[in-house]
Amino acid sequence: MKRIVSYSILGLVSMTVTACYYDNQEELHPGAFEVCDTTDYTYAGKVTEILQRSCYSCHSQNSPSGNVILSTYSGVKTVADNGKLVGSIDHLTGYSSMPQNLPQLSECDRATIKKWMQNGTTNN
Ligand code: HEC
Repeated sequence: MKRIVSYSILGLVSMTVTACYYDNQEELHPGAFEVCDTTDYTYAGKVTEILQRSCYSCHSQNSPSGNVILSTYSGVKTVADNGKLVGSIDHLTGYSSMPQNLPQLSECDRATIKKWMQNGTTNN
């Protein structure tokens, strides 16, 4: 009888320990929460910064891969207008996924580029 009681206490203790273990796991991994600030979506201020970081290496005027130039406004506007810019960065079917052989642009970078387009694709 005494042994049965101590076994059930042991059972209770280990259940409690398990519950705490999972609680802690939840605190350690609260889910990635990234703040996306698209208040600046201008060509000069933000879009060039993103393209410079991820695209200029293959799409500058000197060596424009696939004849796509992303280091000038008119070059970017061309692919923005013909749908290839969004097609490539959103990895849509029918377009080459960009940046080539590199991780996709962040959700925030892509949202910034699309906001710039939705607001007239202007050169400022
Ligand atoms: C490592 C080199 C490399 C990088 C970096 C790169 N590209 Fe490209 N890109 C290419 C090559 C090569 C082609 C032509 C062959 C093809 O279409 O796959 C191309 C083609 C394209 C095209 C035409 C796609 C189509 O379907 O016709 C677009 C638009 C484009 N790139 C946009 C971008 C953008 C935007 C970035 C940055 C986010 C980027 N690229 C980064 C190499 C690159």
